[in-house]
Amino acid sequence: MKKLALILLLSSSVAAQELDFPTGYREWIHLTTGMDMSYNPTLRLFSHHMFDNVYAEPSAYHAFLETGTWPDKTRLVLEGREGRTEGSINKEGLFQTGEPMAVEVHMKDAALPGGWGFFAYGGDKDPAPLLPQDTECYACHRKDGAVDTTFVQFYPTLVPVARAKGTAR
Ligand code: HEC
Repeated sequence: MKKLALILLLSSSVAAQELDFPTGYREWIHLTTGMDMSYNPTLRLFSHHMFDNVYAEPSAYHAFLETGTWPDKTRLVLEGREGRTEGSINKEGLFQTGEPMAVEVHMKDAALPGGWGFFAYGGDKDPAPLLPQDTECYACHRKDGAVDTTFVQFYPTLVPVARAKGTAR
């Protein structure tokens, strides 16, 4: 019994080095859709126009509404999709189309340095390795993310919550 407790204790403090694909994230809470946001040169390379859709796990979202910040193990997804203008009846403006060009996860994990990890998935949906701390993801999110390294300043339903709870920078 004691040994089992020790193993559980140890495993809960070890940071995830790899993360499964966030299956079902399209049924999570939609936080925003950005279009051609200029901060993201990687997504811009793929095509002329790019949407990014951001989702939060429902339990994490509800915890945020209560506290103004994210609980440990929160997963947030950013999905990139191509934007097109001409198709079906559409002549102007943009719509989203095709398979995702990128699926990335930002996961809160108290066992990681800085408390968060990034994971980027390929089209095969295989588990993704933890991105190293020196990738630009961490630097930008730490420097400019409004709440706990996340870009809540761009998630309109969460902005007033973070303000009311005093958790936004
Ligand atoms: C130059 C700044 C910058 C860099 C570098 C950057 N991001 Fe972000 N990230 C943003 C912004 C801004 C948003 C908000 C997007 C929106 O509003 O649609 C965001 C949102 C996200 C989200 C949604 C959850 C959250 O944390 O707000 C994920 C997941 C994410 N980025 C992953 C990554 C990954 C993986 C990398 C590295 C490969 C990366 N980002 C690099 C600026 C950056």
